[in-house]
Amino acid sequence: TLSKSRWPIRTTVSVFSLSSYIIATMGNLTAIDYTRGNLRILDQLALPHVTTYVDVKTVQDGFDAIKSMTVRGAPAIAIVAALALAVDLNTRHTAESFKSEDEAKTFIVESLKHLYKSRPTAVNLGDAVNKLTKVVEGAKENVVAAYLEAAEAMLVADVADNRAIGEHGKNWLLAQQEDSATPVSVLTHCNTGSLATASYGTALGIIRSLHADGKLKHAFNTETRPYNQGSRLTQYELITENIPSTLMTDSMAAALMRTRGKDENLRAVIVGADRVAANGDTANKIGTYGLAVLARTHGIKFIVAAPATSIDLNCPSGDHIPIEQRPESEILTVRGPVVEGGEVKAERVETVSLAAPGARAWNPSFDVTPAEWVDAVVTERGVCEKGPDGKFDLTKFLAEN
Ligand code: MRU
Repeated sequence: TLSKSRWPIRTTVSVFSLSSYIIATMGNLTAIDYTRGNLRILDQLALPHVTTYVDVKTVQDGFDAIKSMTVRGAPAIAIVAALALAVDLNTRHTAESFKSEDEAKTFIVESLKHLYKSRPTAVNLGDAVNKLTKVVEGAKENVVAAYLEAAEAMLVADVADNRAIGEHGKNWLLAQQEDSATPVSVLTHCNTGSLATASYGTALGIIRSLHADGKLKHAFNTETRPYNQGSRLTQYELITENIPSTLMTDSMAAALMRTRGKDENLRAVIVGADRVAANGDTANKIGTYGLAVLARTHGIKFIVAAPATSIDLNCPSGDHIPIEQRPESEILTVRGPVVEGGEVKAERVETVSLAAPGARAWNPSFDVTPAEWVDAVVTERGVCEKGPDGKFDLTKFLAEN
């Protein structure tokens, strides 16, 4: 179901939990709009030209929204999966409709298994599935109610986590500067903001925090081919928040660092993560690895910003991270609204060909940046830096923080 919303889009997320009704103001973007029994997600395939919400009513709606990338971004995927099942349990498969608690458990566990298969790389989805499965398997009674409470808590927790990531990342980066009072410029890749999370964002959350404190000179961001998370979504967020920014193609990062790095006081590349392995190897949007190598070459910090749920201690290194392959058509074509006489005709969306007829394309959605190129992993629990051996110990970090 498609529903139109007003512009600019809503400024609140409301969560109706078992015991309380919480309305939290979280900036200008609401990508996940949930009240008990209702879930609408902002259609990220239509942004930035059309602001449309898609209703998610069933487990299958949730699966399809994630697979088609109507919603994307590691934390957002996990939350939408959890809430899609929550809505289904409120409207179609209600507690009363199950013959027994065991039948409810089976339905929930099977649904979670199905949702888990929607996209493979981001560990947040698997983490949510495991935690929610444990909740229902451990519940002696009121299984559905226990599930709803746990799923809804994830939405609330993600917002607080992102705010904390923003603070920690800002403080860490400024502490690296000789003069922490001088505003810094940063470069980011993909979209890690309110659209990719419950709100505020991870890497983009750090940029927001720097900006809020008057410590951001300028944000540069890549267009992030082929889905164009950067040009469509990150620019949309930066413009909405009045954060000074410049868009560039993915291939311009080296030239930016070399020719403008000093003048712009470009001090960090800040990215999100889909999965951080126990040794710090980081899977993130394709192109991230190249940016890390460039950053080191130019004396610029490379920061990974992610909630602790993106750290997979069961995964020893990046070699074990499954990399999602997306359809060739995403490389061979591009989809967007027609421009006529310099004006964007938002409702007239077309797909046009970009490549020679017969061209074949390789479309890995993510790459792995080996830990050696990463300077810091910023989480809501603090910043993990390398030890004297030049290695991250994320197991110890998570145990101690
Ligand atoms: O394919 P996407 O758009 O889901 O990829 C998103 C990213 O790679 C993000 O950097 C990552 O999920 C972190 S979002 C806070």
